[in-house]
Amino acid sequence: MIKVITYGTFDLLHYGHIRLLQRARALGDYLIVALSTDEFNRNEKGKVSYFTYEERKNMIEALRCVDLVIPETCWEQKLTDIDEYNADIFVMGNDWEGKFDFLKEKCDVVYLERTPEISTTKIKNDLMK
Ligand code: CTP
Repeated sequence: MIKVITYGTFDLLHYGHIRLLQRARALGDYLIVALSTDEFNRNEKGKVSYFTYEERKNMIEALRCVDLVIPETCWEQKLTDIDEYNADIFVMGNDWEGKFDFLKEKCDVVYLERTPEISTTKIKNDLMK
């Protein structure tokens, strides 16, 4: 079984997120989503999500392409997660191109093309207009 792992906040779940998760799952047989906790978002990523961790987790778990959701609580956990969950492929959108190449010693690293013209930030900004 090929296991794929990806990381993110996935706030205001949108079609860019869904396409990323569907393509990630299609690379293997089992998709793990490490979902940024509210504390990690606030303290490390400098962002406050609209939906809480539990709300985002419930939505991501409801997707057919997702098999397991785990919490992302720090930047460093990727190395240990890959071992713990026996991940074969690490996936991120290509806004992160090159940033995680150091994981190539552990597993395949794949950057998928971002879906154009949609993001959580864009939704928030558009609603403010
Ligand atoms: N993603 C994507 N296409 C988009 C938006 C996001 O493929 N249009 C991917 C990102 O590259 C990442 C994952 O979805 O691998 C989660 O991204 P996240 O940062 O949670 O979503 P964004 O919409 O980019 O949020 P923000 O605007 O807060 O950065």
